[in-house]
Amino acid sequence: MRVYKAKDYNDLSRKAANIISAQIIMKPDAVLGLATGESPIGTYKQLIEWYNKGDLDFSEIRTVNLDEYKGLAADNPQSYAYYMHTNLFDSVNIPAVNINIPNGLEDDSVKECMRYDNVIHQLGGIDLQLLGIGGNGHIGFNEPGNNFNKETHCVTLTDNTIDANARFFASRDEVPRYAYTMGIKNIMQAKSILLIASGEAKAQAMYDSFYGPITPNVPGSILQLHNNVTVVADEAALALILKEHEITSGGLIK
Ligand code: F6R
Repeated sequence: MRVYKAKDYNDLSRKAANIISAQIIMKPDAVLGLATGESPIGTYKQLIEWYNKGDLDFSEIRTVNLDEYKGLAADNPQSYAYYMHTNLFDSVNIPAVNINIPNGLEDDSVKECMRYDNVIHQLGGIDLQLLGIGGNGHIGFNEPGNNFNKETHCVTLTDNTIDANARFFASRDEVPRYAYTMGIKNIMQAKSILLIASGEAKAQAMYDSFYGPITPNVPGSILQLHNNVTVVADEAALALILKEHEITSGGLIK
């Protein structure tokens, strides 16, 4: 695991975008696993800026998103499909057919999860998976206690996650109760993983994920077993780790 300490959110976003750019340049038809939430907004902005400068080309890039609320249409402003179009896809030259997001309107969970796993397998797996992390250590919508062995599945959101996401909705009651998410197994099969984290609300989850025991109670802790993980986080998110460890300029931990 490599850990890059960022000065602030802008620095974090630029560093993360640099890693994604390198992937796009090295493999123009790479499969990118993408995340939503607050953490990647700056990263996507930076990628758009470099695309506008002519430094990046998304014409052959394929994408698979981590998750989507069950019950929300792609044109619902709270859906993750809408978020992705607004924050990235509509501003770069990625062909619509190359974009994959779980279909929130598919009522049959078994059918939708099988379809999505097939999409990922047919693409040949994920080259680079971008992840945020929840304050409770969740990755994707894989909540604490969820089995490490799952592929795409439908989850019942925890109260903690509903509370955290309520800020995006008019009221807490409007937050959907279910979501489709890639499972830990899909995430662990990605060839490389880039996890970004910002702010002190993530400090405990970061410490537990990377320095605690590997346990389904902290979903992010499984990443200790992946052989190609890069973490980019700001000082606040790394605060508890930095109390005990030093990060070298090469991003390695002493
Ligand atoms: C988003 C996702 C979630 C978020 C996590 C952090 O697609 O799967 O796991 O990455 O909840 O969210 P933010 O970045 O809003 O703190």
